[in-house]
Amino acid sequence: MADSIHWFDTIDSTNTRLLADKEALPDRSVYAALFQTAGRGQKGNRWESRPGENLTFSILIKPEGIPAREQFILSQVVALGLLDFLRTEQVEATIKWPNDIYIGDRKVCGTLIEPTLSGGLLRSAVAGIGLNLNQSAFDPSLPNPTSLGLVTGQSYDLKATLTRVLAPIFSRCDKLYSAYARNGYDAEYMEHLYRRGEWHGFEELPASDVPTEYRSGRRIEARILGIDPEARLLLEHRDGTIHPYGFKEIKYLI
Ligand code: BTN
Repeated sequence: MADSIHWFDTIDSTNTRLLADKEALPDRSVYAALFQTAGRGQKGNRWESRPGENLTFSILIKPEGIPAREQFILSQVVALGLLDFLRTEQVEATIKWPNDIYIGDRKVCGTLIEPTLSGGLLRSAVAGIGLNLNQSAFDPSLPNPTSLGLVTGQSYDLKATLTRVLAPIFSRCDKLYSAYARNGYDAEYMEHLYRRGEWHGFEELPASDVPTEYRSGRRIEARILGIDPEARLLLEHRDGTIHPYGFKEIKYLI
C-alpha cells in the first residue's frame, strides 16, 4: 500500500492535483500533503489546516460497475471507514450527513468527494479527507472544530496514522461492489448518523438562485428519519410532515 501514497510537503490541494492526474494513476492512489495552500472544503469553502499538524489527503477510487445514481455509496464507504479507524482509537464518532465526522457536537473530519460520471456509471472519484489530528487551537471563525488529539490526549505521527486510516477505507472499497449488490451500506450508515431520531433545530436554506439580500432561512424543529434514494436528508417536522432536503437546502443548528 505504501507505494501508492505520494507525500507532498506543500501542494495547492490534494484533491485538485489528484483530479488532474487521475487518468494516469491506478485505483487507490493517494496524495497526501503536510500543507495545502488552497485546500478546498464543501460548498466552495476553503479548508484550513495548520502545516504538519493534521492529515490532509485524497484517495483515487476507480470502482467497477457502480451506477452513477448510486454514487452516494462512496460517501458511505469513506465515512464508515473513518469511523472504523476512530474506533481503533477508542473513539465513537458519528456521521453528520452527508459525510462530516463528528465527535460529540464537534467536527473532527471533513470530506470532499468529487466523482467523475459517464455513460450512467461512476467511473472514478477523488475522496479528499481532512482529519484533524494534532491541532489544538482553531480559527475562531470555525463553528465547532476539534481534533483527535484534543479528544484522546495523544499526539499522532502523520505518516503512520495515514496508513492506519487508509486500511479500513480500502477494506471497505474491496467490498464495494458486493456491498452495492446487497443494498449498500444504508443500514450501517443510518446506525451511525449524527442526531438521528432526536428533535433538533435546523435552518432551511433558500435556493441558491435567490438573491443574497432575500436569503433568510426559516428555522424549524425537526428530527432525522433517514436518507431517501437520492441521498437527501429526510426530516420530520413537528406537524408530522416529512420533507427531503438536498445538501445545500438545510443547515444543522448546533
Ligand atoms: C469540508 O468542507 O468539510 C470538506 C473538507 C475536505 C478537505 C480535504 S483536505 C484534503 C483534500 N484536499 C482538499 O483540497 N480538500 C480535501
